[in-house]
Amino acid sequence: MGEYIKKGLDKKRYDKAAARYDIFESPMELVFFSKWRKRLFGRIKGDYILDVGIGTGKNIPHYGKGRFIGVDISIKMLEKAKKRAEKLGKKVELIQCDAEALPFKSKVFDAVVSTYVFCSVENPVRGLRELYRILKPGDRVYFLEHMRCESETGGVILDALNPLVRVFGPEINRRTVKNIEEGGFRVVKENWLLTSVFRFIIAEK
Ligand SMILES: C[S@@+](CC[C@H](N)C(=O)[O-])C[C@H]1O[C@@H](n2cnc3c(N)ncnc32)[C@H](O)[C@@H]1O
Repeated sequence: MGEYIKKGLDKKRYDKAAARYDIFESPMELVFFSKWRKRLFGRIKGDYILDVGIGTGKNIPHYGKGRFIGVDISIKMLEKAKKRAEKLGKKVELIQCDAEALPFKSKVFDAVVSTYVFCSVENPVRGLRELYRILKPGDRVYFLEHMRCESETGGVILDALNPLVRVFGPEINRRTVKNIEEGGFRVVKENWLLTSVFRFIIAEK
């Protein structure tokens, strides 16, 4: 399938998902995600921060000081993020763009945050190389991601289910730590949060 068509599918998929995304995610958000987000944002340092694949803006309540830019391929997701920011009285600049071709100069951001995004970006290594490009040297990306587990049996099950799940959104069998390294980063912290599927990762340029 051509790159252009694939990108169109991603936009469509996430535009469609935007309306029900918060409801669909709410059990995981309540039990796990919101406390993991709080922990992630407790580590983030810098004045100019990019939230890549901001979605409906679930990280916004955790934004501290600094200038935040949120990007997403889906305009419907961005509309939800805008409403959330307004409701919370938080300032965030929102831009519709592709993580694989970010409209920013090189070496400008102090930090990047990515929560559950590199399971979705069509070409994750290309997207991660973009994050590497726009970060200042020595600065970090803060990830919460789900991925292929380390257990071989579990991995085979995720491989089998992946084509079905991908119709609605993410891929569930990506080797995201390897992708982060291929993107040029050095992983400085990796914690398994819920088996080896959900992970907290900090990577440095
Ligand atoms: C599973 S959602 C996560 C949203 C949010 N970060 C969160 O923690 O709830 C994945 C998001 O990545 C966005 N996305 C997928 N591919 C993208 C791309 N190539 N560039 C930018 N955003 C993308 C989707 O539109 C969606 O909003």
